[in-house]
Amino acid sequence: MAWSWFRKKDSEGVFGASSTAEDVTAGVDARELVAIVTGGTSGLGLETVKIIALRGARVFLAARNLERAVEVREEILGKLPAAKIDLLQIDLSSISSVWRAAGEFLSLNLPLNLLINNAGMTTDKFRLTEDGIEEQFATNYLGTFLLTQLLLEKMKVTASECGREGRIVNLSSMAHKSPYKNGIEFNTVKASEGYNWLASYGQSKLAVVLHANELSRRLREEEGEANVTINSVDPGAIGTNLLREVGTAINLFSAVYVRLLGKDIPRGAATPCYVALNPAVKGISGKYFEDCKKTAYKLIQTRHVKFTRPFFYQLLYSRREGG
Ligand SMILES: NC(=O)c1ccc[n+]([C@@H]2O[C@H](COP(=O)([O-])OP(=O)(O)OC[C@H]3O[C@@H](n4cnc5c(N)ncnc54)[C@H](OP(=O)(O)O)[C@@H]3O)[C@@H](O)[C@H]2O)c1
Repeated sequence: MAWSWFRKKDSEGVFGASSTAEDVTAGVDARELVAIVTGGTSGLGLETVKIIALRGARVFLAARNLERAVEVREEILGKLPAAKIDLLQIDLSSISSVWRAAGEFLSLNLPLNLLINNAGMTTDKFRLTEDGIEEQFATNYLGTFLLTQLLLEKMKVTASECGREGRIVNLSSMAHKSPYKNGIEFNTVKASEGYNWLASYGQSKLAVVLHANELSRRLREEEGEANVTINSVDPGAIGTNLLREVGTAINLFSAVYVRLLGKDIPRGAATPCYVALNPAVKGISGKYFEDCKKTAYKLIQTRHVKFTRPFFYQLLYSRREGG
């Protein structure tokens, strides 16, 4: 924290590592907006729900644990009595749950301006979901991808009707730069052979960035160009509940790392909230943000993407396009 403050001290008027989510959204009027934030029961998601609600938006807190979601809503309403927070039950590791949650939201016939794909997890245990997919890839990537696809048409229609840009924000991580040697290893998505939990977390976060980049390209190419953007963000290193399922040694290392180079939760939620709400991000799509700035990092040049990209996109979109 102290070091990141020193290293990236923000110049006046420019947001950076030391800005909070409240700073980067100051003055934003979100009263007309409807947002969905996944994983709103803890860490960065909870702070994001709070700040977007503080700016006046109606926020759907999407969570797998509804009891905890009710507590969180009470907590927020205790501090912000005017907050408009609805709950949406979703387990992103389950394809049927994502379909059900998207259907439930769409049946309300509300607009949708913002989708913050925040929910994520990591574990050092290899586990398959009910759909037979490795849990990190299923939760961090597949569920998020499916939810986005199911809500996309609603976001396009909303943007066109209200004349205000729709925004999708994908929470990635610097771990996306450390997937398997050849990028996304599809065998590790189905079976434990060759599985490495950190590389698997990395590949799920690489998939999130690839999804944002490709969807952004597709939205731009659409006839009349859809007024919806999608970007990825790295929130930084923050002490949250994320590492609750990994060993003590990693947690100790992470605690030291966060203390020296990391952020607290209000600063960790700054980049997602900046990309979701700040007017300076208008029209920007398919980019990767760190510390509230577009990064110069060129994903396209990495070896991982060269190996992964063509197959990945084909796999993702062919079924849908094929009908
Ligand atoms: N903290 C960091 O240093 C860091 C760094 C880079 C990127 N990130 C990313 O930031 C995002 C937020 O993480 P965080 O640090 O705030 O962690 P966190 O405190 O553990 O919060 C994660 C949230 O995701 C939810 N979630 C997990 N699995 C889910 C599922 N199957 N279905 C629905 N919701 C699920 C959790 O709900 P439950 O409480 O029910 O589990 C929780 O609300 C994640 O995408 C993470 O990968 C974090």
